[in-house]
Amino acid sequence: MTRRSVVAYLGAVTSLLGLCNGTSVLAGPAGREIERLVVKIDEISGALRGELISVADWRAGIDDLTSRVSETELMQAIDFDRLASRIGFADLGVSTARIRFGAGQGRTLSFVPKLFAVDTGRSIIPHGHANMVSAHLPLTGAFRLRQYDQVSRDTQSLVVRPTVERRITAGDLSSIGEDEDNVHWFIAEEPSHTFDIIVTGLDDRTEHSYEIFNLDMEAAEVRTDGTMRVPRMSVADALNKYG
Ligand SMILES: [Fe+2]
Repeated sequence: MTRRSVVAYLGAVTSLLGLCNGTSVLAGPAGREIERLVVKIDEISGALRGELISVADWRAGIDDLTSRVSETELMQAIDFDRLASRIGFADLGVSTARIRFGAGQGRTLSFVPKLFAVDTGRSIIPHGHANMVSAHLPLTGAFRLRQYDQVSRDTQSLVVRPTVERRITAGDLSSIGEDEDNVHWFIAEEPSHTFDIIVTGLDDRTEHSYEIFNLDMEAAEVRTDGTMRVPRMSVADALNKYG
């Protein structure tokens, strides 16, 4: 499915559900537009979980949908100042808050919306995933972002292949796939926040609704084919070393 057809599909679903009618319950004048965004992210995430679209379609759709709104509008709609002030910054790693969107009232959203706060020099520690995908949209600040394909995994390590190394600022969306770009690592260069879209339980036949594998990137063994074998590590050890 092309990006355009994903969006067309979403338009059809949204109008069928009639969820864009009525008064916005989100904060500020941008509420209606952001409410439409939330409804469409919900639909595309539900379609992903229902195996109606691929992960590549979902990533393209999220990229397209978030590019249609401004970070300022999104921040107004989620009452960013109040939320950011409430969670502050963590001494290590990130502080997070669940965002409660009015558009989800009366039903459960197919994705988890969150705000992440990362102080200067702190990081979203390097990690890979299973049975979930996510997208991060910086709202403030700047990050050094690295991403890697997840090539294989065992109980001790992940084999990864570098795919992304760039500086990102407000509006530079990054997402992960099930294997492609699946490992990510964000180091904040200044006090930063991201709007996060998380979809778990992609395969409901598996034991866990999702899994996270924290990685010791500095201990990686670089191999002749360009891949790296990276030891897994505990959350506590990973926060102490990379958080
Ligand atoms: Fe992640």
